[in-house]
Amino acid sequence: MDQLVVLDFGGQYCHLISRRVRELGVYCEVMPSDTTGKKLNEIEGLKGVIISGGAASVYGDDFPKAASDLLEVGVPILGICYGHQLIAHDVGGEVKSGDSGEYGLTSLLTSSAEHVMDGISRNCDVWMNHRDIVDSMPEGFKTLSSTEHSPVAAFANKDKGLYGVQFHPEVTHTECGKQIFENFISICGASRDWTIDDFIEASIEEAKKTIGDKRAIIGLSGGVDSSTAAILLSRAIGDRLTAVYVDTGLMRHKETEFMEDIFNGKDMDFIIVRAADRFFAALKGETDPEKKRKIIGAQFIEIFDEEADKVGAEYLIQGTIYSDRIESGVTKHSDNIKSHHNVGGLPKDMKLKVYEPLRDLYKDEVRETARTLGLGDNIIKRHVFPGPGLGIRILGEVTPEKADICRMAGHIVEDELRKGGVYEDYWMGFAVLLPIKSVGIQGDSRSYKYPVVVRIIESKDAMTANFSKVSFDILESISTRITNEISEVNRVVYDITNKPPATMEWE
Ligand code: XMP
Repeated sequence: MDQLVVLDFGGQYCHLISRRVRELGVYCEVMPSDTTGKKLNEIEGLKGVIISGGAASVYGDDFPKAASDLLEVGVPILGICYGHQLIAHDVGGEVKSGDSGEYGLTSLLTSSAEHVMDGISRNCDVWMNHRDIVDSMPEGFKTLSSTEHSPVAAFANKDKGLYGVQFHPEVTHTECGKQIFENFISICGASRDWTIDDFIEASIEEAKKTIGDKRAIIGLSGGVDSSTAAILLSRAIGDRLTAVYVDTGLMRHKETEFMEDIFNGKDMDFIIVRAADRFFAALKGETDPEKKRKIIGAQFIEIFDEEADKVGAEYLIQGTIYSDRIESGVTKHSDNIKSHHNVGGLPKDMKLKVYEPLRDLYKDEVRETARTLGLGDNIIKRHVFPGPGLGIRILGEVTPEKADICRMAGHIVEDELRKGGVYEDYWMGFAVLLPIKSVGIQGDSRSYKYPVVVRIIESKDAMTANFSKVSFDILESISTRITNEISEVNRVVYDITNKPPATMEWE
């Protein structure tokens, strides 16, 4: 199978590049920045290499360099942003700090619409994120495009198979981004026949190899990620997989019944652990968001350890996907924004070995995998729910009473979105319970009760998100029902913040 490799120089969109290539039907994976040309040449079907963006400057002594034999790898190479500058530097071009940075949407002028810029209109908007510029390239390199501040915003050297773009074609804001990847794929001569079935087949093989004849357990959360990982793994190791659903007391409305409906009778060992008391006891008195996540994570791990002991499992399978990892600071250069319980919060002395079959996929790729594996829409089209559950939607101390309020409010939000026929249009709709009270008037009396925040989110891949412009009629029904049906609440507010600057969850 033909494939491309992205070398990770730390840019925040690095994985997005690989995903864009896969979208176009060519398998693509991310490898470390210093991978040698020799190692790359051992990859069967390697057709091209992409050097990602990154935060460094290619001057001075201390900047991330490519392996010395990279440019001789013998397949076309495309540099993006830092990658563009690195190639320029390595072939003797001039890279320097620009007088002014270019950040965000920038107008690109393409004077030679050929090579990677083939078919691109003379003027198009591209997404920039840099201060350094490529000022000039040596002989043999042709400048294809420029911007006001970047004399060489795209270059090509067909004989050497080297191409560079200063902007980010992987970001949807770059109008011509898809065309640029299509052009590079055809320059590489890669055939576009990779499908999600290939991913499934390769994952089953990888899981068989990794787990061998051992047993594994998987935590089921009711979300599409863990459900997909469970089905995938049961295909690989059959009844040596035990699926554990933990009722933490912080789950969605009637979740345990839902899980029983879905997984009872499936071809796997399915166990329900009712552990609400344990979670509430561990969380008692804790108000710090990171500590709450860690406590919840530690409880999960304890329970999984216990269940694993019972069945003699050595592996813990997790449905962690790519966006979970980047936000937990797992990749070399990403900041630790918060520790998702299923990655950043794992204790160091954990006995079980963790295996994450979906680690490189984006959410919509997971959904496609789920569909191909035969999971139904009730799982696939379900709103995302975080591992720590209501624990991160109840600000401040988590108590059983607050969990009931938050759960019912969240249920009403989802229910009204369904009734309004818009549930599937959104990434998530949920309620957040605040640790404050405000004054209201109900009946003829003054009330002093909790406010609930309603948050409804649109997102494609969880990395960025917008609050939804859902109709006021739906918001009004949500507000009326919450204040009528939940006696502890007298006020409902709507969160109108995008991500960034906010995250989707409140903690
Ligand atoms: P944020 O709040 O980071 O959320 O913008 C992005 C997506 O990830 C979910 N999320 C989590 N999922 N463990 C999970 O399994 C977690 O700790 C966690 N925190 C956030 C969130 O619900 C949203 O869909």
